[in-house]
Amino acid sequence: MPQVLSHKQLLSIAEEFGTPVYVYHAEKIAEQYSKLINAFKNTDVKFFYACKALTNINILRYIKSIGANIDCSSINEVKLALYAGFTPERILYTSNGIAFDEIDEAKSLGVNINIDSLSNLEKFGEKYGHAYPVGIRLRPNILAGGNLKISTGHDKSKFGIPVDQIEQILSVVHKYNLFIRGLQIHTGSDIDDVDVFVKGIEVLFDIIPHFKELEFVDLGGGFKVPYKEGDTETDINALAQKVSEAFANHPNPGNRHLQVWFEPGKFLVSASGYLVTQVNVIKKTSATTFASVNSGFNHLIRPMFYNSYHRIENISNENGPEKKYSIVGNICETDTFAWDRKISEITEGDYLVFYNAGAYGFEMSSNFNSRFKPGEVLIKEGKATLIRRRDSFEDLLQNQLL
Ligand code: LLP
Repeated sequence: MPQVLSHKQLLSIAEEFGTPVYVYHAEKIAEQYSKLINAFKNTDVKFFYACKALTNINILRYIKSIGANIDCSSINEVKLALYAGFTPERILYTSNGIAFDEIDEAKSLGVNINIDSLSNLEKFGEKYGHAYPVGIRLRPNILAGGNLKISTGHDKSKFGIPVDQIEQILSVVHKYNLFIRGLQIHTGSDIDDVDVFVKGIEVLFDIIPHFKELEFVDLGGGFKVPYKEGDTETDINALAQKVSEAFANHPNPGNRHLQVWFEPGKFLVSASGYLVTQVNVIKKTSATTFASVNSGFNHLIRPMFYNSYHRIENISNENGPEKKYSIVGNICETDTFAWDRKISEITEGDYLVFYNAGAYGFEMSSNFNSRFKPGEVLIKEGKATLIRRRDSFEDLLQNQLL
């Protein structure tokens, strides 16, 4: 049974906790995780939840409890992961463009590290030589992902060390006798085509023979989730099948066993999240009828930043006649969530819900216009718990020196 929260449940949360509010459904996260585990049951695989999607500590603890590992993109995410109770071997730190100090700190915390620049690889080698095994983040020169802003593996991307620089990589590795235990790539987000991962494996297999102590290949995250009605989700069963075929077709020298790692973010938490808002104003104009909600790109920036589609429903009048509305926010910018979208008839005060708000929703929110960030509520086993209170005026002043 797919885990979906009903309008009735969302309405009762809106009434109990107020709006705007992010609501997360724990069992949906577990459902997504089991899709991965079941599909890859015959592969030696590890999944690291890319926590940049959503870092509320309660979510991290829940994800730990269902058995996933965690991927972090900053030292603070590493510290949050430790705080949530992940042991260092379950934490992966995939850095990009950061100062060496941060890698050094991650090393002192004992977590797994992927290094993404020649200069940091060199510094790491100088300081630790063979003593601390690390992974290398490579740029595979593959164009993939839902749009250019979320494509990270193409030949103009800042991420990873370009695979075409393999000679330079090897020269640093040999100079310091580095212990390279893994090779990582991440080509982008919203990747529907599983062949992208196969292409990635092929790129890696060309260079794997150079690394004698390799233990894993990390294919990153990026699995697509359905945002629109009729949209598809990355076919994880097909992915598992193709990954195992790709490995079978490329027997590696010395028959080394390589574990496969993935770093899914969106796939685990996107559909578990809902943003519930309330309509402040209906404004009829000659161009469109606006419904302004008590939110904006300060709470959910994806529609404005990536042109992303989020399904929106009026949960106060679900059976009302459909009419066209442009759903906008209340901040002092053009924060259009949807233009001329058919939604059941809206009256001021109605609650509108935005779907797929779990990944990169709250996490990319801000206090723009000195508005408060929303609260967060977790529903687990049917029970709703507030896991972050809405900001208060004191929060806006908290770090200012008066
Ligand atoms: N691993 C690495 C190294 C990454 O950079 C990312 C995402 C992931 C894993 C997880 O990707 P996912 O499975 O969530 O697609 N804010 C954008 C997505 C940017 C993702 C950045 N890196 C969005 O809202 O669509």
